Amino acid sequence: VSAGLTDDLLLANESLDVARLGALSDRARITVAVDSDETLDAAASAGIRSVLIDVEVGLPRCGCDPADAGRLADRARSLGLDVRGVMGYEGHLMMVTEPGRQAELVEASMATLLAAADDVGGEIVSGGGTGTCITNTWCTEIQAGSYTLLDTDYAKQDLPFEIAIDILATVISISPKGWIVADAGLKSHGMDHGNPRWAHGDVFFMSDEHVTLTPHTLSDWKVGDRIRLQPAHVDPTVAKHEAMWLVDGDDVIDRWPVDLRHW
Ligand SMILES: Cc1ncc(COP(=O)(O)O)c(C=O)c1O
Repeated sequence: VSAGLTDDLLLANESLDVARLGALSDRARITVAVDSDETLDAAASAGIRSVLIDVEVGLPRCGCDPADAGRLADRARSLGLDVRGVMGYEGHLMMVTEPGRQAELVEASMATLLAAADDVGGEIVSGGGTGTCITNTWCTEIQAGSYTLLDTDYAKQDLPFEIAIDILATVISISPKGWIVADAGLKSHGMDHGNPRWAHGDVFFMSDEHVTLTPHTLSDWKVGDRIRLQPAHVDPTVAKHEAMWLVDGDDVIDRWPVDLRHW
């Protein structure tokens, strides 16, 4: 809301801590996902006026039992809330790369969501992510975010997006035995999708403050050189940094603070 991106915002997640969001309701249409009486009550008492009923569609995470979606929607309406529709996040299917297989699985997962949508009412069917943004043709809106910057994990898929983020690090040590060390380690990278990628050699291993790299040509490198690493998982990587520097080649164009850091 502060950035002026839009005046119609969905928090695609359950939260009991929505007082600050509720306070924004005069400035924007705020919608939150709910999957229980508790999250619904929290939204209502925070002054939030709109909800989506979050339905579990196969990812063992948030989302109500599809059979409970209609009851939750009725209860939300009885509390005076606008039920705008449903959401269901098929996160377990983002990395299914076998041709045709993902589309099949997404269709089955979204069939669950569409059946719940009939019980819930409203105009929105929200789901999907970067990995299913092509095969999910069932939703009225796609909840993709990673596509803006991408990462090496998503880049393995045939998606119409490119990696637009690097972690900039400095070479701080060189071993004649064949490796170089730069100053960006586990504290700079979300690691659940594996090591970052380096265009000029292999990532040998990561430690707290260091990345040890084996370059294709050791003699190309000296202490003080800057290197760029491509992260394997963009979301938790960005959350580890205070700011992003927007660059055109090596020219800095802008600095964007990461104000949702630590969320
Ligand atoms: C609820 C929800 N929707 C959608 C997404 C999709 O995001 P991405 O663009 O990273 O695939 C996520 C990712 O974590 C999510 O948690």
